[in-house]
Amino acid sequence: MSSSPSLSNQGTNKIGFGCYGVTESQANEWIREAIITGYRHFDCAFLYQNESAIGKGLRKCINQGLIRREEIFITSKLPMNGMDPTRVNYFLTKTLENLDCDYLDLYLIHAPFCVKYITDNQFYPVNPESGRLDIDHTTNLNETWKSMEQVVDSGLVRSIGLSNFNENQMIDLMASCEIKPSIVQNETHVYFQQKSLRNFCHQNDIIYQSFAPLGSAKSAAINGHDLVIEDATINQLAVKYQVSNSQICLRWHQQSNITPIVGFDSLQHIRENIKLNHFTLSTDDLAIISQLDRNERIFYFDKVPGTRSHRYYPF
Ligand SMILES: NC(=O)c1ccc[n+]([C@@H]2O[C@H](COP(=O)([O-])OP(=O)(O)OC[C@H]3O[C@@H](n4cnc5c(N)ncnc54)[C@H](OP(=O)(O)O)[C@@H]3O)[C@@H](O)[C@H]2O)c1
Repeated sequence: MSSSPSLSNQGTNKIGFGCYGVTESQANEWIREAIITGYRHFDCAFLYQNESAIGKGLRKCINQGLIRREEIFITSKLPMNGMDPTRVNYFLTKTLENLDCDYLDLYLIHAPFCVKYITDNQFYPVNPESGRLDIDHTTNLNETWKSMEQVVDSGLVRSIGLSNFNENQMIDLMASCEIKPSIVQNETHVYFQQKSLRNFCHQNDIIYQSFAPLGSAKSAAINGHDLVIEDATINQLAVKYQVSNSQICLRWHQQSNITPIVGFDSLQHIRENIKLNHFTLSTDDLAIISQLDRNERIFYFDKVPGTRSHRYYPF
């Protein structure tokens, strides 16, 4: 079992620019600002339905000589309706066209629960008779992974990984794979620290990325969770280190050997969140943050009835 190729161009800041929700009108300006301020890692997905806008923004920066393609790290993700092994190449080709790239640095399986393919953009199809998620019962995760390995072999993708898989699913997949997952991307923040999964990844030499590293305030508010970013202890630490609450959270990720993939709603936050290297949380303060863990997941991906009864539902 081999590991897939180099992940060296993730950028020295080791922070990902989350592309979910970036609109056509924001993309050019935000990506330019991200590159100028030092982000090198862009986290995209076919499911976000904005890859062509992101692609145009990146291409513009490359054409203007701000950055070279090989200096940035571009991730995308195979959607749940693309997991039939014969569709992996189809969705990857669409993503490469949209992002205007010859290759991706990383291709992740977005989530393990495969659904029937109806159209490209139906990620949670509902069966008209049952009113429940239209599950693809035929696809086997090991077969999907074989197609992921083939796109590495074909040179279209430099490395492959998993998102939203649980530990047992990873163990099963790794028992039969030829290329080991390079990266795992799962929800992680100070209220949901994923210590066991992170240990598993680190023991197996798999890079661990966190999505929603600030506790995804909008999703948290919709689901009635407390907001990580407003936590009183985080606030005290922000005062102590004279940085923002967000910077404390993101620094905790970095010092815990996690690459955070952070989302934005403003240029000001793009500028602020990259400034993390001028302070270091002490061992005592890392221990204090460790105590904030509530094992509290925000993202269950279960809005469509029947999702939780999928044989591959991970949570
Ligand atoms: N693999 C998956 O299944 C998956 C799932 C979800 C997300 N993701 C990835 O992870 C990325 C981030 O996820 P997310 O946006 O849900 O969660 P997040 O990064 O935890 O939260 C982002 C929100 O935090 C706020 N924020 C950012 N910087 C801030 C600052 N300095 N001070 C105060 N608030 C700040 C922003 O809202 P305001 O500016 O309005 O305050 C923004 O909307 C996504 O873009 C996507 O790339 C992956």
